Amino acid sequence: IPEYSLDRDCQTLSRHVLQQFSDFSTQAQDVSAIMNRVALAAKLVSRRLSKAGLMAGALGFTGETNVQGESVKKMDIYANDVFISVFKQSGLVCRLASEEMEKPYYIPENCPIGRYTLLYDPIDGSSNVDINLNVGSIFSLRQQEGEDLDGEAKDLLTDGDRQIGAGYVLYGPSTVLVYTLGNGVHSFILDPSLGEFILAQENIIIPPHGSVYSVNEGNYWQWDESIRDYIRYVHRHEGYTSRYSGALVGDFHRILLQGGVFLYPGTEKNPEGKLRLLYESAPLAFLAEQAGAKATTGFERILSVVPDKIHYRTPLFIGSTEDVDLVESFIQDRV
Ligand code: AHG
Ligand code: MN
Ligand code: MN
Ligand code: MN
Repeated sequence: IPEYSLDRDCQTLSRHVLQQFSDFSTQAQDVSAIMNRVALAAKLVSRRLSKAGLMAGALGFTGETNVQGESVKKMDIYANDVFISVFKQSGLVCRLASEEMEKPYYIPENCPIGRYTLLYDPIDGSSNVDINLNVGSIFSLRQQEGEDLDGEAKDLLTDGDRQIGAGYVLYGPSTVLVYTLGNGVHSFILDPSLGEFILAQENIIIPPHGSVYSVNEGNYWQWDESIRDYIRYVHRHEGYTSRYSGALVGDFHRILLQGGVFLYPGTEKNPEGKLRLLYESAPLAFLAEQAGAKATTGFERILSVVPDKIHYRTPLFIGSTEDVDLVESFIQDRV
């Protein structure tokens, strides 16, 4: 039974990526090849996740602590290694930087040809992984600048407008890949029987306002008074509803399609919040802006923030323009 019309709907990710470019420049070919590798990594992680509960040793903790100070899950390492092996063979990506690795990972044999860095969060929402709830992967592509002989990756300590492309994969009831190359936001659904990502929605626009606010209210007493004021505001006004899954990718995806705002403010203990700029906030901010919405630290556009280290964190407020503006007005009126 044909489930979708081939000529009308069967646009694959790789063809779509190629069509983002008007020429067959080296950049066009490189980025297409890199996106194909991202899609392969997504399929490998998706396949593992779909069976992990039946496999001995796929779930649970490794016993290690990562550079972020978090307990590492076996799936974090599996997905981290999938990206490494997929990009080792790509010939195009010279350096990988991940939430799970203290220092960037070099692939010297690729450096003469492909001077790109892929930044990624291999599993976003790790706390969901053992209970079969949605998790994601986030990626961001940058040109590698300079030689970086000391391996400090100082060229990555620049603003998020330097991203060539960004996106995420949401492993939910279906596996969805969302990406931008600076020309709109597009989503694809993995058809597991074909092993292909098929176009679902092109040029997604986030509604200017949504009813959802998405925040971990367990941190209420650790927030600044201005954030508590905002939360009290939504409690007292009709038309707001709370949704929080513990995986940024899932919570952001809801907002991408239906509007609303996601908040991860700083706390007394961690004024910079939890989310990492290079692997989490900046790629999603690129998508948000491309979808006509907004991402801010409360004081500054996320894409303008210049980090001083690769694992740099910032508070994040992202989503529908009107909702983000309202949060920002609470934060800034207090200053
Ligand atoms: P990760 O699993 O990559 O470490 O990211 C977890 C992040 C993000 O996905 C989520 O929005 C947030 O942490 C949840 O944190 P809290 O449990 O503090 O709410
Ligand atoms: Mn983590
Ligand atoms: Mn994450
Ligand atoms: Mn992660």
